[in-house]
Amino acid sequence: MLNIDINSQSGKDFSGDVLIVPVFSGRERHRLPLAISKVARQVMDESDFKADYLEIVPLHHPNGVKDCRWMVLVGLGEEEAVTHNKIRKAVGAAARYGLKKGWKKVGVISPSTSLLDHDEVQVAVLEGALLANYDFVAYKGKPEPKRFEVLEVFTNGDDTRKARRRLPQIEAGVAACHRVRDLASTPAADLYPESFADMAQKLAKQHKLGFEAMGPDELTKGGFNSLMAVGQGSARTPRVVKLEYKPKEKPKKHVVLVGKGVCFDSGGLSLKDPSGMETMKGDMTGAAIVLATLVACAEAAVPVQVTGILGLVENMPSGNSCKPGDVLKSRSGKTIEVLNTDAEGRLVLADLLHYASGMGADHIVDLATLTGACVIALGDGVSAIYGTDQKLVERLLDAGSTTGEHLWQLPLVEEYRESLKSPVADIKNITGHRRGGSITAALFLKDFVQHESWVHVDLSGCWSAADRDYRPQGPTGEGPRWLLDWLMA
Ligand code: BES
Ligand code: MN
Ligand code: ZN
Repeated sequence: MLNIDINSQSGKDFSGDVLIVPVFSGRERHRLPLAISKVARQVMDESDFKADYLEIVPLHHPNGVKDCRWMVLVGLGEEEAVTHNKIRKAVGAAARYGLKKGWKKVGVISPSTSLLDHDEVQVAVLEGALLANYDFVAYKGKPEPKRFEVLEVFTNGDDTRKARRRLPQIEAGVAACHRVRDLASTPAADLYPESFADMAQKLAKQHKLGFEAMGPDELTKGGFNSLMAVGQGSARTPRVVKLEYKPKEKPKKHVVLVGKGVCFDSGGLSLKDPSGMETMKGDMTGAAIVLATLVACAEAAVPVQVTGILGLVENMPSGNSCKPGDVLKSRSGKTIEVLNTDAEGRLVLADLLHYASGMGADHIVDLATLTGACVIALGDGVSAIYGTDQKLVERLLDAGSTTGEHLWQLPLVEEYRESLKSPVADIKNITGHRRGGSITAALFLKDFVQHESWVHVDLSGCWSAADRDYRPQGPTGEGPRWLLDWLMA
């Protein structure tokens, strides 16, 4: 368990493994406690440390700060260009540096600048350190996670009450982020539709969420033929899980979250090449985000009713697999010609979005690792957002910038719908060319939504190729924090 404290001391008397000190470049502007500022100035005068953004220098037993074993200076760059996000990431980068050393007792100086509210700075410091405090070791021979035991944030006189009040929400968001990382890291051998549904049921019970699961028989009866077709090649049968969070008081609105939960995407008969499959245990990240967000809703007591739908399937080649050329009758009644079994996410979501449309909610938001094209377009640090409700899209873009989880709107270009026309069915599941692949996938989904306020997120930012700032290599765990930011307000 991590012990978190935020207090208005200066930090110069901190005793522990490492004191993290964020510093601005440009020497005159430090408003650091004197003993610490002396250390920082000396390093900047005598070495080539410039306090550029994310630049890190470890100092052993710094002069004048006698009880701290290590001090880690981390650059924030120029003060004029500071943002909450830079503070969160710089603190996170320094925290991960300490984490890898195995340091347990950590202090952080909350940086002082007149350009930002200090309570918001404190929140960013807490988030950066907490998001960084993660290590996936479940599959090591000796699972000994490197995690902090104590985190102390020093504000040097600034009031800490607002940040303290935000702690439950911060902790719920961080726990959800870490839960998504855990789930997306778990091998498909252990996390498959049935085991995922069982785990969701346990969590639902713990957090007093409503829980319903449909197995293959009910799904077939319910007309989820498009989703069922994706799973038919696997020995592991599909599940659709419905979770329900209701606030104590009358809900301000009702939101449905839909998550793509392809527990493994081999491509099916349209088999991926080996490198294309390496990260496909993470093709259930949308569903993981929905589950983790529902748990966080309960922990943070959001004032909105939230329904979560997880579409859990495994996409495998076998003698039973769906074949290119097959025509599926989706739950909506629309028929789909499958020409590529690797475009399976949209087949799963087609049925789920139609199902969600009937729930009388105010908004539908789906989250899916839908296209490799999106990763090519935006890289692995930004996810794409599309929607038929521009106000909602803008609210979510705001939530993304507040939480530092980058979203970027792409257009639903109606004229591209043309390339999804099928000669034999109502729609086909690929265009046959690679242009605008994330957009044409979103347009495919739109055909199955019967609701005026729908948003789709193509999760290109959910898997990081490298270790960076507070994010480890692998699943980033983004999603729940921006969803929570939206649902709280
Ligand atoms: N799950 C993949 C998309 C994906 C690939 C996400 C790599 C993140 C990283 C999806 O099911 C898929 O295979 N999409 C195909 C669609 C194509 C066949 C039209 C793709 O992107 O190649
Ligand atoms: Mn696929
Ligand atoms: Zn997929």
